[in-house]
Amino acid sequence: MRLPQGMMAKKITIRQALKEGLMLDIERVEPKLRAALLREFKTDLSPQRAPLLNDPIATLKIVNANAFAGLVAVDTNRDGVTRVESGDKLGVACAICHTTTNQAVYTEPGGGSVGKRVDGPGNFNLNMGALLAVADNSRAYYPNLQAQLGGKTIGRAPKGLTKDSTEADFDAYLKNPRFYPRGTFDETADGVGNPVVNVAFFRTDLSAPFGSSGANNVLDHIANGSYTVNLDLTTIATPEGRKFLMMSNPKHGDELWRNYVAILKKTGVKGYPYVEAKLSGKVGDPRSPTGRLVDQKKLLDMNAYTDSLPSPRGAVVSAVSSANGRKVFKEDGCISCHSVDQNKPVPPRLIDVHRVWPGYRPTVIAQRAWPKSPVQNAPGTFDDKAVVEDASDRREKRGFALPLLLDLARKSIFLHDASVHSLDELFHPKRGAQAPHPFYVRDASKRKDLVNFLHSLEDKKPRPGVRQRSR
Ligand code: HEC
Ligand code: HEC
Repeated sequence: MRLPQGMMAKKITIRQALKEGLMLDIERVEPKLRAALLREFKTDLSPQRAPLLNDPIATLKIVNANAFAGLVAVDTNRDGVTRVESGDKLGVACAICHTTTNQAVYTEPGGGSVGKRVDGPGNFNLNMGALLAVADNSRAYYPNLQAQLGGKTIGRAPKGLTKDSTEADFDAYLKNPRFYPRGTFDETADGVGNPVVNVAFFRTDLSAPFGSSGANNVLDHIANGSYTVNLDLTTIATPEGRKFLMMSNPKHGDELWRNYVAILKKTGVKGYPYVEAKLSGKVGDPRSPTGRLVDQKKLLDMNAYTDSLPSPRGAVVSAVSSANGRKVFKEDGCISCHSVDQNKPVPPRLIDVHRVWPGYRPTVIAQRAWPKSPVQNAPGTFDDKAVVEDASDRREKRGFALPLLLDLARKSIFLHDASVHSLDELFHPKRGAQAPHPFYVRDASKRKDLVNFLHSLEDKKPRPGVRQRSR
């Protein structure tokens, strides 16, 4: 995608990076620059009083030090120093979406923060669309975006992207918050515009099945898919990628593939795929969508790490109100799906799409080989994630997985399609009986108690270095 080239051309400053939601791990910055930045964060951040924060050259120093969580600079020309400005590569890792900081140094309102790195919590402020737009060649991300296929398009924009769309067309799509909301990532290579809300990557021992449509029930499988497709989308342009797309969508998969190969050629992308993986998996298997498998030992080590990460502390709320809210939760039917105790695994069953969204009225687009369900789409955004990808690969129904009810006080986007903006709104009957997740609490004060209860939830895993409150 040529991200460093784009950052230099657009003169991205540290302040702008924070505004777009990147997290700065201050401990990775070398001592002299760190001291200077700490001084600048105490000012009004103006170019006069905080020159480094407003200087694109300083951004490159942060990038080269790997101090923005999840932006990974690699010494590809192996001269012992990492310098993206002289050709070393810059990639994106899991941490860009699944890491925050302890905010010890600075917090940008609605954006990223600066401090000691905290792995696990979702980055709900990350403007991933805008970041992808910074790259010189945003077109290299085509299969995950909203495409025009067979003259039609599915997603939030009225028109889809084509192989002839310009870099400016791609950037305009990516930067439009109505098409690509802050806090979301479109992580399905299906040509459907379906960005979904970032999620937690803590207590993964409790969260299966994974992904909102529950397509994966094994943690290292979803991680392998993430490494071999989303973080190196060019695997989609290989012969195995073609097979995967045609299995996923018999009607439009080949068109998506041909467009992508044409885009990569036109934009001078060569020598792909780049991910270090063995071509020993089965194409179309949820663990290896394009047949590629990364180092299994590393995946298992990462499972152990994310299984062990605790959730952030629950909010401090009125104990009386929270106790009342717990009663509402138990008496209003929430427990027919969710657990009250968040230290237990989420119930592993999927909730049928018609049950969680009574207004679901899909049209079949293409039939697929057993056991896959047909490709189908309904008006509205709630099912867009599942138009092509659902759990039918593992002979499960089309439905949605239950979320961990943890770290909710930090969120301002709810449901996987970011369609709801507060918990009060989620439980307010004005959303209507046909809306997604229509489980309402009519009484305003009961609703407030329920929200307080949900905000207070945390798991009881011991937190290293933090003294446990008596409870
Ligand atoms: C650009 C943002 C982004 C990056 C990078 C990213 N993810 Fe995710 N991840 C998401 C989003 C968004 C979801 C929610 C998907 C859904 O709702 O179906 C998700 C879901 C997951 C889940 C399922 C969690 C659950 O409880 O359902 C796992 C596990 C996961 N990601 C692991 C990874 C790994 C491992 C990597 C790196 C190889 C990675 N992710 C990279 C955004 C990202
Ligand atoms: C029929 C099963 C069902 C019932 C009943 C139900 N939920 Fe849910 N809930 C779900 C599913 C499935 C999701 C995930 C929806 C998605 O993918 O966006 C969810 C999502 C949520 C979320 C959003 C989490 C987030 O981070 O976006 C909250 C909060 C929640 N439920 C609380 C409740 C409460 C409180 C009640 C009772 C008033 C309730 N639910 C009743 C199935 C249910």
